[in-house]
Amino acid sequence: MTDSVKNDERTEANEAQIAVHWKEEKYIEPPKSFVEQAILNDPGVRKRFDEKHFPDCFREYADMLTWFKPYTKVLDTSHPPFWKWFTGGKLNACYNCVDRHLDKYRNKAALIFVSEPEDDVPYAMTYQELYVRVNEMAALLKDYCGLKAGDRVTLHLPMTLDLPITMLACARLGVIHSQVFAGFSGQSCGQRIQDSGSHYLITIDAYWRSGKLLDHKANADIAVKTAEAAGQHVDKVLIWQRYPGKYSAKTPLVKGRDVFVNDVLKDYKGKRVEPAHMDAEAPLFLMYSSGTTGKPKGCQHRTGGYLAYVAGTSKWIQDIHPEDTYWCMADIGWITGHSYIVYGPLALAATSVIYEGTPTYPDVGRPWRIAERLGVNIFHTSPTAVRALRRLGENVPKMGPQKFKHMTTVGEPIEPKAWHWYFDQIGKGKAVIVDTWWQTENGGFLCSTIPALDKMKPGSAGPALPGIYPVILDDNGKELPKGSGIAGNMCIRNPWPGIIQTIWGDDQRFIDTYYRRFCKYPKSKDWRDWPYMSGDGAVDAPDGYYRILGRIDDVINVSGHRLGTKELENACLTVPEVSEAAVVPVVDEIRGKVPEVYVSVPASVTDRAAVAKKVIKACEDIIGKIARPSKVHVVPDMPKTRSGKIMRRVLASISNKRDIGDVTTLANPEVVEKIRVQVQGK
Ligand code: WTA
Repeated sequence: MTDSVKNDERTEANEAQIAVHWKEEKYIEPPKSFVEQAILNDPGVRKRFDEKHFPDCFREYADMLTWFKPYTKVLDTSHPPFWKWFTGGKLNACYNCVDRHLDKYRNKAALIFVSEPEDDVPYAMTYQELYVRVNEMAALLKDYCGLKAGDRVTLHLPMTLDLPITMLACARLGVIHSQVFAGFSGQSCGQRIQDSGSHYLITIDAYWRSGKLLDHKANADIAVKTAEAAGQHVDKVLIWQRYPGKYSAKTPLVKGRDVFVNDVLKDYKGKRVEPAHMDAEAPLFLMYSSGTTGKPKGCQHRTGGYLAYVAGTSKWIQDIHPEDTYWCMADIGWITGHSYIVYGPLALAATSVIYEGTPTYPDVGRPWRIAERLGVNIFHTSPTAVRALRRLGENVPKMGPQKFKHMTTVGEPIEPKAWHWYFDQIGKGKAVIVDTWWQTENGGFLCSTIPALDKMKPGSAGPALPGIYPVILDDNGKELPKGSGIAGNMCIRNPWPGIIQTIWGDDQRFIDTYYRRFCKYPKSKDWRDWPYMSGDGAVDAPDGYYRILGRIDDVINVSGHRLGTKELENACLTVPEVSEAAVVPVVDEIRGKVPEVYVSVPASVTDRAAVAKKVIKACEDIIGKIARPSKVHVVPDMPKTRSGKIMRRVLASISNKRDIGDVTTLANPEVVEKIRVQVQGK
């Protein structure tokens, strides 16, 4: 099948058209007060990072780290597209995020934990205390679990301090952590345990979410069962306690398998573990992300390049000084949290805030009260959160006089209306905004304005970061002229230190997903022949600012989180009555896009409401609550091409109330009108 036919049958080929096309906005100058104190204020940086200086320019990032052994080569391209960064070098990510700060910042807050119940007093963990806890946990992982460099461990932890402590303890030993977002179901977690080949699952008994203390240990039981059914044995489940010394879940412990971390830790009090000297290319962690097939991809990040890239971008784009109080409201279970709550900020000796709960709990003023109480001056969140807080929080004065100098958005396009509200009402016109575009696979930001050097343009992510050379290609791989304003495939021409090494255990999928389509000479050893395909559609304006239009593959971006339509469809198909399933993205005022589900059932099935309920439950159980479809349409048949492919594009048009277009070439055009009436009414 040719690509053009395949594309025609995909809804997502049309995502660029669904994306909001707002008009070009006027530039806004970064506030003077910000510029005066900014770390990166030398316009010479663009020249230092231009193509003539690639890849050596990235030494500037690597030099922000402490190396046990200096690297001998910046970039090794001998085996495209498996780039190697800073080869010959040895370092330890935990050492860089903790130990090296002790001399200067021993008793400065590294992490401040804010629990969801508002009466709890925030807890500031100093670098010294973090050092102690990470060492004890590393000793436990090493001696009690017998884990060593290169082993994988799955974490299914919510936003408490146990999560960064566990991650850093793994990094100290060179153990590869694979943290699964706590909101994912036990089954999702189990699938990732199996794929990564983990023998240990580290979880927690319970955590607070929207006013409820959730029993999280129940998910561990499902996860282990799922992993074992898929052939992966789990030796032990290590359970942190939300309230140490107390068990806050109802699910009973499994004898011989489940242990409380705090009980075992008693044997490791005061223990210290030497940080392992890891190769720059040693994998640091896996982060599973949705793709175009039903199976999530284990994005494998390297130690040296990744850490250098997140340290560099945290410093230059987030403008994090050690004196700042920085709060990224994302979850550490996603890449944003790994890069911009834990590794980037801690590599810079920042104070990074961790909030356990829902931003709108108990009301929309919560984030601003937290910011006020802790004196947060750098704030980082998603457009979905901005839109929700805007809609629900008209009464701005109640939000308090927090004094942000810098604000970030990430994960989705932010429309100018929401941007202006964020700038005026939350930043009070005094905070610079960066709209950062990047992906799980990228490690760190790829497009954003440099906050003190570039003017802001609401609705555009901005130019590429230093050392990143994008290109927009049409569907035939032809370069669109710079500044053409024509939508095409957003690609990056060059490798950069934050890119993943591969997809865990699946090199071929790595090549196929990101490189195959636009690599003209697969035998070439020249990086210039290997553009990275992001899977996003984009346009660039004559000023070099990129506007990201959204996914052009089978991925839906819901509230800034990636959901694979195939994963959802597979979940729907587990309901016995369902014969076929199709998931389409529907524009949503707050969440950007939401998934709507179409399922067809045989005529003999009469209780359609019951089927819809089962479909919702299947999506929640198999993937997690974030995958809950906004609507389920139980239809008699799907619109299909003559070759039998479901026309998701037609269903998406119906759900989005767009023009359905010509359907006369379908095998069953008459069903389209039936579905339209069912969904939209007469
Ligand atoms: C989308 C999140 C527009 C994009 C860091 C990308 C954005 C996907 C932006 C990656 C932005 C991310 N403007 N769209 N500033 N940032 N995206 O892997 O479609 O969870 O491909 O990484 O989010 O999502 P992921």
